[in-house]
Amino acid sequence: MSEQTELRETVRARYAAAATAVVNGGGGCCNPAAVEVDETFGATLYPAAQRDELPAEAVAASLGCGNPIAVAELREGERVLDLGSGGGIDVLLSARRVGPTGKAYGLDMTDEMLALALSNADKAGATNVEFLKGNIEAIPLPGNTIDVVISNCVINLSVDKPAVFAETFRVLRPGGRIGISDVVADDHLTPAERAERGSYVSCIAGALTFTEYREGLKAAGFADVEITPTFEAADGMHSAIVRATKPTESVDTPVAAQGEASCCGVSACCTPTEQAVEPGVTVTEAKSAAGCGCQ
Ligand SMILES: C[S@@+](CC[C@H](N)C(=O)[O-])C[C@H]1O[C@@H](n2cnc3c(N)ncnc32)[C@H](O)[C@@H]1O
Repeated sequence: MSEQTELRETVRARYAAAATAVVNGGGGCCNPAAVEVDETFGATLYPAAQRDELPAEAVAASLGCGNPIAVAELREGERVLDLGSGGGIDVLLSARRVGPTGKAYGLDMTDEMLALALSNADKAGATNVEFLKGNIEAIPLPGNTIDVVISNCVINLSVDKPAVFAETFRVLRPGGRIGISDVVADDHLTPAERAERGSYVSCIAGALTFTEYREGLKAAGFADVEITPTFEAADGMHSAIVRATKPTESVDTPVAAQGEASCCGVSACCTPTEQAVEPGVTVTEAKSAAGCGCQ
């Protein structure tokens, strides 16, 4: 087993235990016994009015380090994706804000968390939610389909953060945005110094620095990157809110089309992945304007 696979399995096992503890009533609100997380993490970061909207188990399973709903400014009809949705707290809150014409997806790799989230969605009577099993490094959704990506204290747990940023960019529609809570380290802290302050599974050792986070998002194509610390989780390690947008003029080049020139204002011409180069125009309109069909 590679070091990365082993680390991911350690993370999965710890959060499986946290979900089981909530189901069995063994974990306390805000700090389930099975997971060592900072005592300031969890449901206390949500206003009482938001906690009161949800089943007790969804609140008890909260392991986040912020409240992405507070920054995502969700609107009626939007499609939201929560990376590492855990017991579903942010998916359920998002579902209420986007309403019946919108949809909230949760993505998590841990079966026990997915089962807990489904049970919580059922108790909440949420119909516009869907929980997907998978890794945030390979999001099982098509490109350009999501308005807002949220996440709460999960990206620091990833063993491949560039892949998470690239996948987040891919699934967002041009003009889409992210509203993420995560742990971020001061720039001067080395990986060893971050590890001294807390373990990987408790969201500390795997944290990026402010500069690494900003540069990682920019390298994936994001613009308007803002990272705002909210409180100190450990010495030099902060819970922070991360915002960024996918530029409206973005066009992802489908992997199959890399190296091919676009034709007729359409990328990946005449393949199932073809997209108009101009986001406001459909494939048919682009071809008709250019007076061409498949080549
Ligand atoms: C700290 S908990 C946060 C859960 C939730 N966001 C919340 O605020 O309560 C981390 C969650 O992310 C999931 N997770 C961690 N790494 C993941 C990965 N690479 N892909 C998918 N899910 C992951 C874990 O299974 C767990 O449910």
